[in-house]
Amino acid sequence: MKKIFALSMVAMMAASVMAFHGAESRCSSCHIVHMAGDNSGVPLWNTETVMEGANYTAYVGYDMDAQVDNVPAGASLLCLACHDGGTSHAIAPEQGDMTGTHPIGFVYDSALAQSDLELYDPTSSPSNEVGGGSTIADDLLSPDVIGGDNTILDCTACHDIHAQGLHDSIGIAVYQYDRNGNQLFEEDGVTPVLGGMSMPHLRSIPGVEWQYNSRSQLPVEDPAAYRLIYTPLCVTCHIK
Ligand code: HEC
Ligand code: HEC
Ligand code: HEC
Ligand code: HEC
Repeated sequence: MKKIFALSMVAMMAASVMAFHGAESRCSSCHIVHMAGDNSGVPLWNTETVMEGANYTAYVGYDMDAQVDNVPAGASLLCLACHDGGTSHAIAPEQGDMTGTHPIGFVYDSALAQSDLELYDPTSSPSNEVGGGSTIADDLLSPDVIGGDNTILDCTACHDIHAQGLHDSIGIAVYQYDRNGNQLFEEDGVTPVLGGMSMPHLRSIPGVEWQYNSRSQLPVEDPAAYRLIYTPLCVTCHIK
């Protein structure tokens, strides 16, 4: 029951939040064209959208070979400015607590793949990204320093904040909800507002999609009847 509830919350939120980072959004929340900040992961970074990079507790590995720094930088630092604990779209229970999020801000290179045989070599394995067409390193990882090699796994390894990924081609129309989880209706008060499912800006990798749970008794329009399938993203880097 708890799991179903959690899934429906994800679906509801995904349906109600629209493309803040998409092409229609303000570029300036992340990029400015003058007086930009110096940041290896983000070109022309708007440093007003900034936060302290210190005082983080990184993910504590179960069987980690990578060295994860407690100080996020680059694109991850930008993301956390708005998504850290305490914000409305938080990914952490409290600010700085990254223990419950996939490790970020560490070097993922050939050497790591050699010490952990359950990882693909990022410099030679394909990213599978639609429109990417190159390796994991080229398409998914961030440069260590400006102009440097792409070796850092940041939030942007899994998220392409400039796009909503593959969701447009799926064309699912579902009920829309406001931020508080209240369903939205047309002016007549009875006709449900229908809209698309969003793909939390996941990288466009074939197979990453919303799937209808055919065992669901709910109407097709109910977002809770779908689950987000993202395994193809995971197995781009992980062998298993
Ligand atoms: C939420 C933050 C955010 C917003 C909003 C945003 N960007 Fe970006 N942008 C980034 C980050 C992070 C990168 C670093 C590359 C990546 O995506 O991993 C980037 C990279 C870029 C690049 C370099 C891409 C490359 O491959 O060299 C361009 C150009 C760009 N953004 C343009 C834009 C434009 C135009 C807009 C508005 C329509 C925009 N961005 C909105 C965060 C943002
Ligand atoms: C300037 C603030 C800001 C920054 C910086 C920012 N975000 Fe967001 N993000 C938002 C807001 C606000 C929303 C909710 C969407 C809305 O209501 O516009 C959101 C939504 C999202 C979502 C959910 C979208 C969905 O459709 O379910 C993801 C995923 C996301 N952001 C990832 C990122 C990543 C990755 C970065 C860093 C590259 C980032 N964000 C940087 C403000 C920000
Ligand atoms: C290993 C891949 C991966 C990395 C790294 C990653 N994410 Fe995500 N993220 C996902 C997936 C998959 C989802 C959708 C499933 C979910 O909501 O749990 C998601 C969902 C989200 C959402 C939407 C949550 C919601 O309730 O709709 C936000 C916001 C977000 N991520 C931000 C971030 C930020 C910020 C970082 C870096 C600190 C990050 N992500 C790093 C894979 C990743
Ligand atoms: C861009 C490549 C990439 C993607 C995509 C990715 N991962 Fe990872 N992941 C890694 C690397 C590299 C590590 C560090 C492994 C190590 O050091 O042993 C890691 C670590 C992990 C760990 C921690 C293992 C431990 O020993 O504690 C888990 C769990 C995990 N990933 C699951 C996922 C899931 C689930 C997804 C899909 C949403 C995903 N990953 C997507 C590259 C990736």
